Amino acid sequence: MIFILLTLFTLVTLRKSREIVKMQRRLNQVYEYAFGEMYDTVLNVDTVKANVNERLSTAQYKTHFQKGFNIFVKQQNIWKFFQTWQNRVSSFGFIIIFGAALFMLREGSLSIGEFVMVIGYMSMIYRPFWNLTHNIRTLQRGTTAIERAAKLLDQSTEAYDDPRAERLKETKGHFVFKNVCFAYKKDKGPVLTDISFEVNPGEVVALVGESGVGKSTLVSLLSRYYAPISGEIFLDGIRLNNISLKDLRKNIAVVPQEVMLFNDTIKNNIKYGKVGVADEEIFRAAQAANAHEFIEKFSKKYDQIVGERGIKLSTGQKQRVAIARALLRDPKILILDEATSALDSQSEKLVQEALARLIKGKTTFIIAHRLSTVRHADKIIVMDKGRIVQTGTHEELIRQDGLYKHLCSLQHVYL
Ligand SMILES: Nc1ncnc2c1ncn2[C@@H]1O[C@H](COP(=O)(O)OP(=O)(O)OP(=O)(O)O)[C@@H](O)[C@H]1O
Ligand SMILES: [Mg+2]
Repeated sequence: MIFILLTLFTLVTLRKSREIVKMQRRLNQVYEYAFGEMYDTVLNVDTVKANVNERLSTAQYKTHFQKGFNIFVKQQNIWKFFQTWQNRVSSFGFIIIFGAALFMLREGSLSIGEFVMVIGYMSMIYRPFWNLTHNIRTLQRGTTAIERAAKLLDQSTEAYDDPRAERLKETKGHFVFKNVCFAYKKDKGPVLTDISFEVNPGEVVALVGESGVGKSTLVSLLSRYYAPISGEIFLDGIRLNNISLKDLRKNIAVVPQEVMLFNDTIKNNIKYGKVGVADEEIFRAAQAANAHEFIEKFSKKYDQIVGERGIKLSTGQKQRVAIARALLRDPKILILDEATSALDSQSEKLVQEALARLIKGKTTFIIAHRLSTVRHADKIIVMDKGRIVQTGTHEELIRQDGLYKHLCSLQHVYL
């Protein structure tokens, strides 16, 4: 009888546990989405306000959190049923054993002493068993959380210190792309097709083309954020894949399209990634980046906190801080993803001056949105739908009746 009860108890526990675990996973998913959405809206609060979308955003949270709450209530109801059932089974088991012992006492097969002993042992067995069933809940919550953490930890890390990789102390900055193809997902179409070109040390290469043709994707291959699906990239004659990732990235500085700063002082933002530099070096970099003057105007000067993502600085100021950071690091290779948003002419002039100082003597990739800025590039690569359609200098390309000429005429650049 006891055996039947225990088997029944175990079976129902396992079945219900599976149901509860499934619900816990769903609950985690729903809350993760709801909190993610909330975080996203807080970051984009300007857009929410500009579109008078407060009500809709609030309604969206309510729906998501309500969904989570409904699952939570359902899960609690299952627990309630489960616990009532556990209580009943264990009480029933206790009564049966107690009855049997009483019966045996009356029959004379148990003495009073033995009877007390049986009841005592039963309580001793019951207590931990009871605790165990009650702790299952905490245990299950924990295991679903561990499952999720394990998934994150399972993500492979980038091999920064691969001992087999070739070290690259000094680079000349000589790049060769050979028939490079790339796709973000295997089942999706290619983003880059058959890309081949060469960049000599110290050259400035401009990448132009309409939005979405793959310019940013192409430069992300340089720092090996992604790897080509076919073809090869060489730096100083070495396959990019064989170079130590740490060395490769140390030799590249990126001034991105959208500069994001840390919520720290301007000084720490400039020296980010380079420890132990003297203040004088930081000031020199800021001066060369045309940033010193506006920094000096802040009440706390270089100790001014820039706010989350650098919110207290204008776009042009953030760009100049990013340029100062790149100047301080002074690597041989430079990637500039020009900001799409136009700056006012004064700010533009300051940024362009700073960039001119920065690119001196470096192999530079400029993703140019304004064609006026690429005129002086040694080589212009014109892209269309993931392919290179034209290569040459401004003068060469303008003489051809191709995409470059068309793009220039769209931007009213004097031909
Ligand atoms: N992380 C990503 N995952 C999947 N697809 C992506 C990703 N990043 C970009 N894409 C897609 O790859 C294509 C090329 O994008 P890319 O950002 O390289 O264009 P771009 O030329 O830099 O455009 P823009 O001038 O607007 O910056 C686009 O169709 C884009 O949707
Ligand atoms: Mg881009």
